[in-house]
Amino acid sequence: MEIQIVSDTLPSVQADWLLVPVPAEGEWSGRLQELDRALGGSLTRLKEAKDLKGKVGELLTLPDTQAIAARKVLLYGVGDPGKATVATIERSLMTAVRAASTKADQTVALDVEAIEFANVAKTDVARLAAMSLIVGPQGQDLYKAEKDRHPLKSAAIAMAQLASKDVQQAVSEGTILGNAINLTRELVNQHPGELFPESFAERAQAEAKSAGLACTVLDQAAIKQEKMGSLLGVAQGSVQPPRVVVLRHQGGAKDAPWLGLCGKGVTFDSGGLSLKPSDSMKTMKGDMAGAATVLGAMTAIARLGVKANVIGVLGLVENMPSGTSYKLGDVLTARNGVTIEIHNTDAEGRLVLADVLSYTVDQGAVKLIDLATLTGSCVVALGTDIAGAFSNDQPWCDAVLSSAKSTGEEVWQMPMCDSFDEQLKSDVADIKNVGTRWGGAITAAKFLQRFVSDKPWVHLDIAGPAFAESTKPHREGGGTGVFVRTLVETARKWG
Ligand code: BES
Ligand code: MN
Ligand code: ZN
Repeated sequence: MEIQIVSDTLPSVQADWLLVPVPAEGEWSGRLQELDRALGGSLTRLKEAKDLKGKVGELLTLPDTQAIAARKVLLYGVGDPGKATVATIERSLMTAVRAASTKADQTVALDVEAIEFANVAKTDVARLAAMSLIVGPQGQDLYKAEKDRHPLKSAAIAMAQLASKDVQQAVSEGTILGNAINLTRELVNQHPGELFPESFAERAQAEAKSAGLACTVLDQAAIKQEKMGSLLGVAQGSVQPPRVVVLRHQGGAKDAPWLGLCGKGVTFDSGGLSLKPSDSMKTMKGDMAGAATVLGAMTAIARLGVKANVIGVLGLVENMPSGTSYKLGDVLTARNGVTIEIHNTDAEGRLVLADVLSYTVDQGAVKLIDLATLTGSCVVALGTDIAGAFSNDQPWCDAVLSSAKSTGEEVWQMPMCDSFDEQLKSDVADIKNVGTRWGGAITAAKFLQRFVSDKPWVHLDIAGPAFAESTKPHREGGGTGVFVRTLVETARKWG
């Protein structure tokens, strides 16, 4: 969907829904006062009666507004404009757009100019607005006859004056980012009977083609040729053969350095022979979120024409129990020669990423980021909204954290103390695939570190934020598409 930009006063904007921001503090802008006058002072009366406070996430509908061009007004609170951040503004916008998309065939005009924010630029607000208009109406109800969310018939951003080049640019960026986030979300939301390594790889190929990315898919034979014994060990219990997808965007000079993005793509994690309890298995269709995030980000990086060289590698497998499953006590040989004793087949993500990381280094990546729904332990540590960051290189970690900060995506750095290496010692092989119960997210990161050849690397454990168990007014349940933006922002800075 293309997002229009219309320049008009609020009373004359035509739409089924006119979405108007209302502040919790400070004077109303002339633009808002103009709307208030056109509505016969009804906004002032609502404010005075404390029916309209302007808090973040607050909504107030004015149905059947005959005095103005729009049929309905949705007032959305944005909090104190002096304190607003990218995250609070996104929350307000998403709440408003999601509320306007509960009915089919709506035309929506979203105003972003009735308020000026002290710490967030107008272009950033316009980018977020465009993104919200794309992301908000897409639900997780892929298989429902009667949808809870509906695509908009048309979407516009309402401005006072003709939009500047910068604002137009921001709207087109927001559209690209929104579509990338929706791609990631859709893949996470697809059921595992539909999305398995082969079908994921096919979809990746199609998306790469339309975005203008180079794409190679390694099938089982090619993966064997690459000696990815660790990834293959996980895959061997499933009737679904594995795939490794390699995406390349060469936006920089031929000899410019490559940034490597790696994603865990376990299309279903049953735990294997170390079978998960039923309750923990319910959301394991989403265990490919890391790979979906890398794919989403790569499509955006290509469409934005980011001037950097970026390679994305997705490790796609299904982890199943069967007569051919890998077993506890098995020793797998990873592609870099490291031997791994298996003590738990449910610690499969690290085995997949081990080969993907070393492959990405050998393909020429000089710095790496991997994304994975890797450990329940990380969710215990940081909760469901915050990702864990683990790194072997503080400056590189700081760069990734600062990208995350600018996009409002929440991440917290975790320690990488040497003592955790002890836990990975095996009596029969170079390492084993699990440590003790405690600090499991750190042992997992320590395991991955063995496969990055000392290249600066950041591991993002997104087990918490990648998949939302419940729907909230500002966010649909299911796949969230979180960290697509952080990756894109990091790639931009790379260029
Ligand atoms: N995919 C899971 C991690 C996970 C848990 C993701 C909850 C999202 C929500 C991963 O493969 C796993 O099973 N990890 C184990 C590791 C353990 C066996 C060392 C875990 O965290 O329990
Ligand atoms: Mn697992
Ligand atoms: Zn897993």
